[in-house]
Amino acid sequence: MIKKGIILAGGKGTRMSPLTKAVNKHLLPIYDKPLIYYPLSILMLSGIKDILIIVNKNELDQYKKIIPNGNNLGVKIRYAVQNQPRGLPEAFIIGEKFIGKSSVALILGDNFFYGQSLSKTLLRCTKTKTGAKVLLHRVSNPEKYGVAKVLRNKIINIKEKPKKFFSFFAITGLYFFDNKVINYAKKLKPSKRGELEIVDLLNVYKKKNKLAMDLIGRGGAWLDTGSIKDFYKTSSFVSAIENRQGLKIACLEEIALNNKWISKNEIIKAVKFYGNCEYSNYLKKIISKNN
Ligand code: G1P
Repeated sequence: MIKKGIILAGGKGTRMSPLTKAVNKHLLPIYDKPLIYYPLSILMLSGIKDILIIVNKNELDQYKKIIPNGNNLGVKIRYAVQNQPRGLPEAFIIGEKFIGKSSVALILGDNFFYGQSLSKTLLRCTKTKTGAKVLLHRVSNPEKYGVAKVLRNKIINIKEKPKKFFSFFAITGLYFFDNKVINYAKKLKPSKRGELEIVDLLNVYKKKNKLAMDLIGRGGAWLDTGSIKDFYKTSSFVSAIENRQGLKIACLEEIALNNKWISKNEIIKAVKFYGNCEYSNYLKKIISKNN
């Protein structure tokens, strides 16, 4: 079982300036909560309780105000600082000590996932013992992402942002790796754009026949939060579902309570922490229901 997870939440978010001049992108709202809640909820739904969040230099205090150390969620959260964004695989080099001898999941801080059987898929992915596993999702604009060509449930080709079409399946920003990932990441060479590329890392596994895949089918959603337009589209999606159902997506305290990682007491403390707001009202409802 994969028990450790990294959230990569660095980057300057320049495409969203001026919003990102003073506040890191991952702390901006997707509807009613900061973006960072969504990837964190995905790790928690995967049963992962030991989490490293990689953030930009000088921005650590912003994060700690809202997610101090995980005690309130029954998880352990540590932070590491990335001085300069040098590509996704750098997460495994920065996180080497944190990972130790374990396997590890990596989620990009700006990725949004939703779907009926998502938790089941996630729990299946954390069972990855050796090799790597990626989650694929069909998109209309594969040229914007890492792309995988699939034949009989096997990945036969992968490319980063291919100019020429070869598959609709995007490689989402959620990856599961065995411990070898640290050494493989260290051996990567920067690409033309001067960064270590996740696709190069995945290709190392593919060449060894150790790259597996799972699918987020058409009943699931994987949304982008890369630009301001995407941010608003994702916000509308969350707003539509939450208001229709009266249930929240990525309510961290609710997930922790359902996982039995915290008790009602922590929810009461969370209500005090958040103050008089709609999120607190929702938390109050959860514990009255569980009475
Ligand atoms: C990165 C990865 C890409 C992946 C995408 C998912 O792209 O390089 O393979 O499909 O995240 O969000 P970037 O966001 O750096 O353009």
